[in-house]
Amino acid sequence: VYKERENIFSLNKLAARFYNYLLTDTNMGKEALEYLNKRGFNEEDIKRFHLGYAADEWQLLLNFLKKKDFSIHLIKKAGLISEGNNNSHYDKFRNRVMFPIFNNRGEVIAFGGRILDSEDNYGPKYLNSPETQIFSKKKNLYGLHLAKDRIRKENSCIIMEGYTDVIQAHKNGFKNSIASLGTAFTEEQAKLIKRYAENAYIAYDADTAGNKATLRGLDILNNTGINVKVIELEEGSDPDQLLKNEGSDVFNELIENAVNLIDFKINMIVKDKNLSEPGIRKKVLRSIVELLSGVEDNLEREIYLERAAAKTNFKADILAEEVEKEFKENK
Ligand code: GTP
Ligand code: MN
Ligand code: MN
Ligand code: MN
Ligand code: MN
Repeated sequence: VYKERENIFSLNKLAARFYNYLLTDTNMGKEALEYLNKRGFNEEDIKRFHLGYAADEWQLLLNFLKKKDFSIHLIKKAGLISEGNNNSHYDKFRNRVMFPIFNNRGEVIAFGGRILDSEDNYGPKYLNSPETQIFSKKKNLYGLHLAKDRIRKENSCIIMEGYTDVIQAHKNGFKNSIASLGTAFTEEQAKLIKRYAENAYIAYDADTAGNKATLRGLDILNNTGINVKVIELEEGSDPDQLLKNEGSDVFNELIENAVNLIDFKINMIVKDKNLSEPGIRKKVLRSIVELLSGVEDNLEREIYLERAAAKTNFKADILAEEVEKEFKENK
C-alpha cells in the first residue's frame, strides 16, 4: 500500500507534466492557451501554477501512462481515468484547462479541470479529481505550497474561492492568497492555516453562494482561534475579475476596509431587506438582537449596538434594552 501511494504521486506528477506540455508545446493546446491568455494569464502564470490542458481525446493520457508501464488499476486509483462499458477505460479529463492541486510540500495530489468557454462543450464548469489515497479535498488548500512562506511572514492569509482567483492574486503581488477548493471551508483547512498564521481574510465571491460560505467560514476560522475579517467585493464580482479590471490598488483598499465578523453578520442581516415593512423590520431587529446578545464583552456589545442602530435607523436605547434582556437570559 505504501508503494501504491508512491505510485499515485508519480502518476499525478507525470500527468501534470503531460498536460503542461500539451498546453504550452502542441497544436492541440492552442485554443486552451489562447483562452488563458485572453483571461490575462501569461507564460509566467502558467509556469508558476503548472497549468495544463487535457486534450479532446478519449485515451491520450491513458495510453501515455500505459507506455510508462503503469497499470490501469493504478491509473484509476489516481483518479485520472474513468471506467466505461465492457471494462473499457477513458481519460477523465478531456478538453479542459488543467489546474494541478498541490499539497503543502509542492507535490501534485489532484486536478481541477475547467471547461473552455465554447458552445459545443458540455458538463460541469469545473471537474475535480475524486478523493484518493493522497487527496482529501477538505484537508487541502489550493496555492498553499506557494503561499505558505509569505503567510508565515505576514502572519496572515487571504482565502478565496477559486483557482483563477488565486492565480490572479499571486500575479498581482498578493502572494499570501489561497483557495478553499470550492465554497465549503472546513475545520481541517482552518487548522492548516493556523500552523502558519493567526490572521485571515475571506475574499469569496460577492454572490449568494459566496456570502453563505463566508458566514460559515467566519465561524469555523473564529472557532479555531484565527482573527478573521471579510473583504467585501462589489456584488457579482470575484477577486480575479476585480484584480483584472481594477488592479491591485483597489484590492488593497478593500483589504484595508475589510470588516470583522460581527459587522459582516449585521450587514448580511440587513442586506436586501425592506426595512420600511414592519414585519420584515421586526424580524431583522430580532436577528440583530440575537447576534449582539452573543457578544460577551460589554464595550464591544455597545459599539456594535450603535452601528446596528445606525444601519437600521432604529432607536439605539430600545435595541440596547432588548439586547441586555437577551444577554442576561443567555447567561
Ligand atoms: P471562473 O469562472 O473560471 O472564473 O472560475 P471561478 O473560480 O470564478 O468559478 P466559481 O466562482 O463558479 O467557483 C469557485 C470555485 O468552486 C471553482 O474555482 C471551483 O473550485 C469550484 N467549482 C465551481 N464550479 C464547479 C463545478 O461545476 N464543479 C465542481 N466540482 N467545482 C466547481
Ligand atoms: Mn477495471
Ligand atoms: Mn462563485
Ligand atoms: Mn468566482
Ligand atoms: Mn471567476
